[in-house]
Amino acid sequence: MDDWWRNAVVYQVYPRSFADGNGDGTGDLIGLRSKLGYLHRLGVDAIWLSPFFTSPLNDGGYDVSDYRDVDPRFGSLTDFDMMIKEAHGLGIRVIVDIVPNHTSSEHPWFKAGLRDRYIFRDQPNDWQSIFGGPAWTQVEDGSWYLHLFDPTQPDLDWTNPVVREEFRDILRFWLDRGVDGFRIDVAHGMIKEDGLPSINREGRQVELLGRERLPYFDQDGVHEIYREWRPILDSYGAIAVAEAWVESPQRLARYIGPDELHQAFNFDFMMASFDAASFREVIDSSLAAAEVVGAPTTWVLSNHDKFRHVTRYGSLAKARAATLLMLALPGSAYLYNGEELGLEEVLDLPDELREDPAFRRTGESRDGCRVPLPWSANGPDAWVNPWLPQPAHWASMTAQVQEDDPSSTLNFYREALKLRKGLGGDLHWLDAEPGVLRFRRGGHEVIINVDGGLVPLDGEVLISSAPLGTDRTLPPATAAWLAP
Ligand code: GLC
Repeated sequence: MDDWWRNAVVYQVYPRSFADGNGDGTGDLIGLRSKLGYLHRLGVDAIWLSPFFTSPLNDGGYDVSDYRDVDPRFGSLTDFDMMIKEAHGLGIRVIVDIVPNHTSSEHPWFKAGLRDRYIFRDQPNDWQSIFGGPAWTQVEDGSWYLHLFDPTQPDLDWTNPVVREEFRDILRFWLDRGVDGFRIDVAHGMIKEDGLPSINREGRQVELLGRERLPYFDQDGVHEIYREWRPILDSYGAIAVAEAWVESPQRLARYIGPDELHQAFNFDFMMASFDAASFREVIDSSLAAAEVVGAPTTWVLSNHDKFRHVTRYGSLAKARAATLLMLALPGSAYLYNGEELGLEEVLDLPDELREDPAFRRTGESRDGCRVPLPWSANGPDAWVNPWLPQPAHWASMTAQVQEDDPSSTLNFYREALKLRKGLGGDLHWLDAEPGVLRFRRGGHEVIINVDGGLVPLDGEVLISSAPLGTDRTLPPATAAWLAP
């Protein structure tokens, strides 16, 4: 089997915000088709599309009401077929999202009151929704249903074989349409601890996410589902990547391997602070855990749920340095649309325009990383009334403006992706000054000066995340790759 995914750079498309093909202010599949050439030039191996399925869009499409169709706001199945054909023609693989933990409350099963497919109880327990407030909502007859997310996202009961069969069929539906894989939403959530025990702890449970085992996440039974899926994936040569928030790299590694999934996002890396010791520790522990199961590590710095890494780290310079570090690591890397333009989190969106369902209950919102991408200020691909407004200064950061500027973040990403193809082999750490990390891969040396003094460079610099200092030194918050 072709192991393309082991080193792949996968670009996440948030369809609503990527490119608007019909000028209605919402991104769509026609818009995506028009940008496949751009993605090809960027040099990505695959795209992952966040949900574009029929949905009330209460949670940006992670509330699916028909898993086998395209929401009219994003286009049609025909648009999807044309898109995937063109992507494949350019050598770009296509991964789609699958949302198995919950459906939309507009899904025909929920609307028809098919309770044995959801989790109904006479009394709620103390579980909280990830989006704030209780995870249970009462219905007319007095019973309650579980929703780990919004009340419009009822959790499915995965102990019901009908649910299992349905999702195997949904996988086959998209595989038959030619998809190369799936990103599995809340991959750690489908199985709940027997008896649904209360947690009996003060404070928001979401704070424990990824730090402790909760009775609704990372239960052993979930692995059985992936062992059922793997033969289906294998029969099409497709892959799957897990979104699983678990407490350790060892627990994460249980999702990947020859009889389960291929990849699992490394959120420890994404959440690590910008300092040399944190990076070193998370890289070491992640590589070690993945190696045990013979799987690659899957690095990521930004996605549609977290503040963009420019804003998390506090500067574009740090973000570019971390990106160059990530792209030099063994394994696969996921990019989030717009990071190649150096976009920052939009923090000052008017509250009334925010759509994240978590905002109303927690005051925290993920809208700021979902603002539509600036393609050009006035060209045919400029957004008219985008569903979230773009900051005025993005007019100077458009893809068009960056196209011809050799020092632009866009051209930096293009160059890094091109050079990355020449990187191979295991990672070997080298001694380094305080605040600096150095390693060797194959003949290349990779250096990130996180917060050290000026680092003199020895050898030919292939790429650096910022201009070098005087006397060919690497300034703080800068990374570089050296030629063999
Ligand atoms: C995942 C998605 C997120 C969504 C949630 C519920 O965490 O990435 O966007 O809100 O699942 O489906």
